[in-house]
Amino acid sequence: MPIFDPSMLPARARHQLLTSLVVPRPIAWVSSRSAAGQPNLAPFSFFAALSATPFLVGVSIGQRRGAPKDTLRNVRETGAFCVNLAAEARLSALNETSGEYPPEVDEFDRAGLPLAEAGSVAAPYVADAPAVLECRLFREVDLGGENALVIGQVLAVRLSEAVPLVAGTHFADTRGVRPVARLWGDLYALMGETASLTRPAPGGPAGG
Ligand SMILES: Cc1cc2nc3c(=O)[nH]c(=O)nc-3n(C[C@H](O)[C@H](O)[C@H](O)COP(=O)(O)O)c2cc1C
Repeated sequence: MPIFDPSMLPARARHQLLTSLVVPRPIAWVSSRSAAGQPNLAPFSFFAALSATPFLVGVSIGQRRGAPKDTLRNVRETGAFCVNLAAEARLSALNETSGEYPPEVDEFDRAGLPLAEAGSVAAPYVADAPAVLECRLFREVDLGGENALVIGQVLAVRLSEAVPLVAGTHFADTRGVRPVARLWGDLYALMGETASLTRPAPGGPAGG
C-alpha cells in the first residue's frame, strides 16, 4: 500500500488525492452579485456545515490565474451570497455554471435559470431552487495558499414546497429533490438508498 506525504506531491496530485478521498462532497451552488450589480452563479464542493449556533456554512474558494474567482470578489464587495441546494434536476445547468467565464457573463442567463432577489442579503438566488441559504459574510479565513475560506452566517432559510419539514421537526426532507454530490473530476454521486439506524442510548455499559 503506498503512503503519500502530501508535502512531497505536486499541487495537482494533492488536489486529486484530496478530492477523491473526501467524498461524496455536498455542493454549494453559490449565487452572488458584484457591487456594480452583475449576477454570478457557480458550484463549490469544498463546502461544509460549520455550526448551528451561530448558523454557519463554509465555502473554500480558489483562484483563477492568480486572481480571486468572481464569487469571492463579489462576496468581498457585498458581504453577501446565497447557497442554492444542488438538485439532480438541475445538474446539467449546475455544470454549465462552472465554466471559467469572464466576470461580465451572467451564469443565470447562460444556463437559462430564473433569478430572484434574496430578502435578507444583497444577493440573487435560483428562483426554483428547492432550498436556499441566504448568507451574510461572517468571516474570511486565509488558508495559507490559494484558497480562502468564506464563512457565511445564514440569515434566512428558504424552502420550496418540494422540501417539506418532517412532521413535528425542522428536518427539511430533501430526499425527494435528490441532492447531488461531487466525487472527483467530472464524477457526481446521485442519491441512492438511505438507511435509518437508531443511535446507542447514552450511559450504556462502558466497553472494555
Ligand atoms: C461540482 C463542482 C465543484 C466545484 N468546487 C469548487 C470549489 O470548491 N472551489 C473552487 O474554487 N472551485 C470549485 N469549482 C470550480 C468553480 O465552479 C469554477 O472555477 C467557477 O468558474 C467559479 O466561478 P466564478 O469565477 O464565477 O466564481 C467547482 C466546479 C464544479 C463543477
